[in-house]
Amino acid sequence: MNHVPARSSGRSTTRARLRAALIAAVAGVAAVGTTVALAPNASAATTLGASAAQTGRYFGTAVAANKLSDSAYTTILNREFNQVTPENEMKIDATEPQQGVFTYGNADRIVAHARSQGMKVRGHTLAWHSQQPGWMQNMSGSALRSAMLNHVTQVATHFRGQVAWWDVVNEAFADGGTGARRDSNLQRTGNDWIEAAFRAADAADPNAQLCYNDYNIDNWNDAKTQAVYRMVQDFKSRGVPIDCVGLQSHFTGGSNYPSNYRTTLSSFAALGVDVHITELDIRNAPSDAYRNVVNDCLAVARCKGITVWGIRDSDSWRSGESPLLFDGGGNKKAAYDAVLTALNNGGTTTPPTTTPPTTTPTTTTPPTTPPPGNAACVATVRLDSWTGGFVANVTVTAGASSLSGWTVGLTLPAGAAITNTWSAQPSGTSGAVTFRNVSYNGSVAAGTSTTFGFQGTGVGPSATPICSAS
Ligand code: G3I
Repeated sequence: MNHVPARSSGRSTTRARLRAALIAAVAGVAAVGTTVALAPNASAATTLGASAAQTGRYFGTAVAANKLSDSAYTTILNREFNQVTPENEMKIDATEPQQGVFTYGNADRIVAHARSQGMKVRGHTLAWHSQQPGWMQNMSGSALRSAMLNHVTQVATHFRGQVAWWDVVNEAFADGGTGARRDSNLQRTGNDWIEAAFRAADAADPNAQLCYNDYNIDNWNDAKTQAVYRMVQDFKSRGVPIDCVGLQSHFTGGSNYPSNYRTTLSSFAALGVDVHITELDIRNAPSDAYRNVVNDCLAVARCKGITVWGIRDSDSWRSGESPLLFDGGGNKKAAYDAVLTALNNGGTTTPPTTTPPTTTPTTTTPPTTPPPGNAACVATVRLDSWTGGFVANVTVTAGASSLSGWTVGLTLPAGAAITNTWSAQPSGTSGAVTFRNVSYNGSVAAGTSTTFGFQGTGVGPSATPICSAS
């Protein structure tokens, strides 16, 4: 299915609705989507959620279903937070332990608790290389691709209307300096697995905000940050339905709060997506670092909220580092006061518009050399294949004159069949197939390029494609 303008504007409308609802819920706050500098402690809110709501944001926490019976835990949860993320209960191993058998008990319990308290829910996560059930770990190729898409569809459908944001895809990029995708069974189904997951989530729950979520994408200079930035930029340019980026921001282990964090937030926001701080924890909970994170979020209009990864230090996945806002006894720590004060101060008066990136990310330079001869255009195919399937990404480059429309003819080998096409309209699914531009990518300036792609079963095309102006 070709996805784009209709859904894209639908997603903007949803975003606008969501923002309006948040603002409407906050009496006395003036601006939509802007950072509001409140008079310091003029009418200081006394909880994290209420203080974040003063600027239309949320303050949330990861929640574990088995702790909802702990009254010390729920007392803090209900008092302080207005957003929750199930810590493990919506992951693939929890929701589809056997293929085709879906179990939602613990996740439903958290969602019901959140809704009864007026808290918003972040779904975590639909597609991930980790915490896959055994049956999925053993799958590959087109069978895995189908199983993954079915999982996304079933789970997003089950929670439709109850989840405000989905971490559709989690942690798909490798650490280190390469900026490459993380190797995984999902990645080996073809490079387009991420956008395929987003399209499936969009179809299942058109009103949820769809996020890409990762760790170590906090430092603007890191190759991983730049790689995710380029993916989001590419998705936005091609109409892949993405609304937001989640920065996990685990400043634990060896990772630290970077001084250019605000640049990272504003740079992603400048791509036209919201940003969320989704799993915050900081080794030994220094007040300064927590305060900086809050102020950085408040300075970026599209930073919609902050979620800490647990309530008390004893609830943390890294309890040894005491990285949270409450100690094991449920007492507020110094970092809690720093966060509350920063939220009540409403941030700095940094202009609310997104700041353009200060570092130009490396982008793939579009071809500037017109195709040889008098050809109106040239098409090249990049093929990712595996046994039984393939993904083809096609680049269409205009010649010496601009194109106002184009077609690309390709012949698929016997037995091959197209199952999915994006950013082009195919004439058929097998044999000789002609791909025609869609409304938003027919105009291509001289010497520049546009792309489309398709996925199929069998063996991918190897013959040179024929590009023509139309
Ligand atoms: O519930 C079982 C228990 O019955 C069993 O006895 C025990 C034995 O190991 O395991 C328990 O499950 C553990 C589960 O946490 C609940 O405590 C799993 O082994 C353990 O792997 C799981 O760890 C979770 C981890 O994700 C798994 O990758 C952490 O709680 C959770 O905080 C962490 O969260 C991730 C985010 O999803 C993504 N970003 C990073 C973040 C931190 O790793």
